[in-house]
Formats: sequence, C-alpha cells, structure tokens
Amino acid sequence: MRIIETIEEMKIFVKQVKARGLSIGLVPTMGSLHEGHLTLMRQAKEQSDIVVVSIFVNPTQFGPNEDYTKYPRDLTGDSVQAGTAGVDVIFHPQAQEMYPKGYSSFIEIDGITQKLCGLSRPGHFRGVATVVTKLFNVIQPDIAFFGQKDAQQVLVLQRMASDLNMNIVIEIVPIVREKDGLAMSSRNAFLSVEERRAALVLSSSLQLAKQLVTSGEINVEAIRQQVIASIQLEELAQIDYVEIHSYPLLETIDQIIGKTLLALAVRIGNTRLIDNIILEG
Ligand code: PAJ
Repeated sequence: MRIIETIEEMKIFVKQVKARGLSIGLVPTMGSLHEGHLTLMRQAKEQSDIVVVSIFVNPTQFGPNEDYTKYPRDLTGDSVQAGTAGVDVIFHPQAQEMYPKGYSSFIEIDGITQKLCGLSRPGHFRGVATVVTKLFNVIQPDIAFFGQKDAQQVLVLQRMASDLNMNIVIEIVPIVREKDGLAMSSRNAFLSVEERRAALVLSSSLQLAKQLVTSGEINVEAIRQQVIASIQLEELAQIDYVEIHSYPLLETIDQIIGKTLLALAVRIGNTRLIDNIILEG
C-alpha cells in the first residue's frame, strides 16, 4: 500500500491506473479509522479494481468553535487498518496542499443543506462539497463510497454529483454499529466511560421510534415528542435536533408515509454525536 501526499503524485498515479483500463473506488475519510470506515473500504474493494482512501481532516467543514484542532489523528494506525482492508493507496495531503495561499473557490448546494446539520453547522456542507469535489477531480473515481451514518451528507453529495453532471456513481453503505447499538464514529474516542454509556440514548431512541411506527403510529410530531422525551431522560444528553423528514428529498411531513428519515444530533458532554434511521410507514 502506498501513501501519497501531493496532488501531483496522486494525479500521476491516477493516469497510470486509467491507462491500464482499471476502475477506481474512492473512500473519502478524515481518518482515525474504525470498522465503519473499513466496511466502506471492503465494499470499494469488491466493486473496483483500485481502492484509494483519502485521509484529510478538512478545515473548511469545521466551524470556528468546533473540534478541528482536537479531531483525532493517527496516520500510522490508519495505514495498518487500511492495508488489511485491501486499500491500494492512501491519499494524505496537508491542509496547505489542498488549500494553498489565495485559495478562493467553494461549492454551495441549496435546499437540502438548509436543514438538520446545515442549520446547526453553518458552512459545514459547503466545506464538505468543496473538499469532495477536489478529491473527485484529483482522484477521478468511478465510484465513491459514503456511509448512511451521515445521511444528509450523502444526499447533499448525490445532489451535487447529479446537478453538476459529475461522472461518478455514489454508493451508500449502511450504518455500522457497536454490539450495543452505538453508531461507530471517530468522535466516540472523546467519550468518557460514563458518556459512552449515556451515548446509547441515541440508538435506543431510534429503536423506540421504530417500535412506535411498527405499532401503527404515523403522526410525525407524536413520534418526535416521544423521541425527545426519551433522550431527555438521559442527564448527560443535550439535544441539538430531532427531525423527521421525507427520504430522500428531506421535505417537511406530518405523517410517516413511505420512506422517512429520523435524524438526531445530540451532545453528550462536549461531544456532538449524530445518528439516524429510515422509518417505513
Ligand atoms: P468521516 O467522518 O471520517 O467519515 C468518512 C466516511 O465514513 C463517511 O462517508 C461516513 O458516513 C462513513 N462512516 C462513518 N462512520 C460510519 C458508520 N458507523 N457506519 C457507516 N459509515 C460510516 O464524513 C467525513 O469523514 C467527511 O465529511 C468527508 C466526507 C471525508 C469529507 O471531508
């Protein structure tokens, strides 16, 4: 497995791969890899000849008071894990390489970015869309793999790829969870033992909503209020949002009819966690 740090070297590698007629699967990440990321990589390996994983903690998607500097970084550990998942190349640029002095171009997606994480993290999706477009341009993947864990992110990126006629298939990989239900996340590393226990309230409240729908409840506000109440029972949890929207268009709805996204953002201590479930009415 190779680690490539410059855009120029990455472009040369891509040219060689394309000249041999091989397909490229890309898994964009911010590193501190866990089983969720590795599942994306294994799927990429199944569906493409060459797998490139980018590891780049992207400064433009973090707000001024967010955890950019604190975000966990572990290139050595990540390389070992990526190697076992069959990755061919890690693209690991420095911030200066991606955003040199004078950098001024950004990608904005309207509509679906103006809700959920787009409201609580202004500018976040602008940064995500910009870095992913840059990665697409440098690596020219045939397929790019994203996790359902970040449900809104992948919808934004599908919208962007479609609107801007990008010649890339975007695959969505289901959420990978710990045995007890907690969705895997690099940010779980920030949780103390007590917070780790409290964090279970995210997945358990999603399960509660699923049970409500199974037992015939289809009123969005009724489900939302019960989810809010169940999260509020956990002292260490502070709700950022609990939202229910149609899926995949993320429209406002009153009733669960067809595919519906229940998405949560909850702060456990200082750590903001997200999780979601697709409810089917
Ligand atoms: P990061 O949080 O490192 O996640 C990289 C990819 O792994 C994303 O597509 C995310 O949805 C997926 N992922 C994370 N946890 C997962 C889980 N438990 N199950 C399934 N997939 C999971 O998302 C980002 O980085 C960045 O915003 C990025 C797209 C790389 C742009 O900077």
